[in-house]
Amino acid sequence: MVVIDSLVKDYQSGVITVHALNDVNLEIKKGEFVVILGPSGSGKTTLLNLIGGIDMHTSGSIKVNTHEITKFTEKKLTEFRKKDVGFIFQFYNLIPTLTAVENVELAAQLNFSRRIAYEKSMKMLETVRIIDKANNFPSQLSGGEQQRVAIARALVKEPKIVLADEPTGNLDTETGEHILKEMLRICKEKETTFLIVTHNVAISKLADYIVYLKDGQIFGTSKG
Ligand SMILES: Nc1ncnc2c1ncn2[C@@H]1O[C@H](COP(=O)(O)OP(=O)(O)O)[C@@H](O)[C@H]1O
Ligand SMILES: [Mg+2]
Repeated sequence: MVVIDSLVKDYQSGVITVHALNDVNLEIKKGEFVVILGPSGSGKTTLLNLIGGIDMHTSGSIKVNTHEITKFTEKKLTEFRKKDVGFIFQFYNLIPTLTAVENVELAAQLNFSRRIAYEKSMKMLETVRIIDKANNFPSQLSGGEQQRVAIARALVKEPKIVLADEPTGNLDTETGEHILKEMLRICKEKETTFLIVTHNVAISKLADYIVYLKDGQIFGTSKG
């Protein structure tokens, strides 16, 4: 499903070149639930951004579903992000002028008709336990509640791949574990591929495997 070959990502910061990713090789199969672990600055977010097609690589290649996305035109990349990728950002990135359900619907409408999108959005808000605040604006939600809306928005599209950056960081343990179980259920039922950056031990335990990143390189993998 995802094949990463000799991936390099450099950032230019003034005269200094930062090697955010330095020769990453990784293969993830369809329907696998993979956790990425690593210290701050190790390249976790950079890796997710490249796989999700929201940042440009320096060299190497990424294939998703046999398509080499690192060779996509801007138009094809946009289509890929819209249809196939569910992104859960570390800082939610909800649209402040839309309510919770409208934020989720907007994503659902990329892949479904308006009526189906509404039904699926309400169902997903129920799944992540935020249905009672469906008509609240993001500013009227706590951090943990916004995070749940962001999770619903990513999952409602029924994407092929879900990329999540610390998705349960702001949730209480019980809600975090509930959402995690739902993600795992969706992963296995729909054969969605999940790539999750997290320090949550409960999530790591349920993963098919864990990838360890350090200084932009993979230095090991283990079973979850
Ligand atoms: N836009 C950017 N410009 C310059 N350097 C960046 C940029 N984004 C990330 N970096 C650097 O790349 C490295 C990896 O960052 P990141 O992927 O955010 O790490 P992590 O998510 O593991 O904390 C860090 O050294 C960071 O400072
Ligand atoms: Mg990060």
